Amino acid sequence: MFLILNGPNLNLLGTREPGVYGAGTLEDLERQCEEWGTELGVTVTCHQSNFEGQLLEWVQQAGEQGFRGIVINPGALTHYSYALRDAIAGQALPVVEVHLSNVDAREAFRHVSVTAPVCRGKISGLGWAGYRFALEYLSEL
Ligand code: DQA
Repeated sequence: MFLILNGPNLNLLGTREPGVYGAGTLEDLERQCEEWGTELGVTVTCHQSNFEGQLLEWVQQAGEQGFRGIVINPGALTHYSYALRDAIAGQALPVVEVHLSNVDAREAFRHVSVTAPVCRGKISGLGWAGYRFALEYLSEL
């Protein structure tokens, strides 16, 4: 059982800068992740929030809720949320950070991730495939 978390503004996928983030909606992405989970023989639960505190609570509670790992796209929180970093560091599950766009090829402020150092690793720039690779990695642990 794996948790997929998407952060601020990712509810706007499909209409938000489609040249950067693609034409698919969040609902499409979440359904695709569930299908990949089925293929991998694991259950996938997806949540999105624009609220930092809600994301912190999902991360904090994931272990006690029986999840075995987390895939997280923290959106812009990646670049400045020490609270999210601490929440990830403060729990025991493996976490993989995913970004749809290649953050290292974009504005300088996106080159910094305060959350990636407390994750197992970071996948950036591969679009939806990043979520699949993260799920594959976690399900093989
Ligand atoms: C993002 C990259 C972030 O810099 C941005 O703030 C997002 C989306 C991505 O998936 O490429 O909201 O995390």
